[in-house]
Amino acid sequence: MSLDVTVRPATPEDLPAIQALQPRAFGPGRFTRAAYRIREGQPLLSRFCLVAVVPGQLIASIRFTEVNIGGAPGALLLGPLAVEPAFAGQGHGRRLVAEGLERAKAAGVRLSVLVGDEPYYARFGFLRVPPGQIWLPGPADPDRILAVELAPGALLEYRGLISAR
Ligand SMILES: CC(C)(COP(=O)(O)OP(=O)(O)OC[C@H]1O[C@@H](n2cnc3c(N)ncnc32)[C@H](O)[C@@H]1OP(=O)(O)O)[C@@H](O)C(=O)NCCC(=O)NCCS
Repeated sequence: MSLDVTVRPATPEDLPAIQALQPRAFGPGRFTRAAYRIREGQPLLSRFCLVAVVPGQLIASIRFTEVNIGGAPGALLLGPLAVEPAFAGQGHGRRLVAEGLERAKAAGVRLSVLVGDEPYYARFGFLRVPPGQIWLPGPADPDRILAVELAPGALLEYRGLISAR
């Protein structure tokens, strides 16, 4: 990874660049995903959102939304994670996930959930949630609903619908 990459909390000034990055990273169709329905109407930034920047350019961003699961607090929905295509595969996504989870754990978050590719997220400890335990307010492939415990045994404490806090 290039040495002049800085990872820091996202600020309101970053929002235009973050929003411009999403379609470049994801392509069309992203607003129909169930995870977007949870984030709809929520503040675009939480204290856990991070960006990676090089001088003059935002190259990656990660959003975390504080959520309840089955009414219980203490969980964070990870996503979207987006890396500027020209900077993909250089460890920036990995660094944002790892730092985000570290900060969340330090703040007392117990569980992080996401809808995404298990082969990518397994390296951070994300595992498939047992079928039917945790669901979203819309269709989501159960094989892609993943969670990582930030406190031992936390997954057992959560059952039900993911909703914004
Ligand atoms: C997926 C994404 C976030 C990865 O970030 P990145 O900075 O490019 O990747 P990293 O450098 O952190 O990690 C690269 C490694 O992840 C692997 N990888 C990348 N995307 C993957 C995927 N979808 N599934 C499995 N592995 C994946 C690469 O093969 C590489 O493996 P290696 O370390 O064994 O060589 C980024 O490419 C991106 O923004 N893609 C488009 C948007 C997207 O799909 N976001 C994910 C939301 S679930």
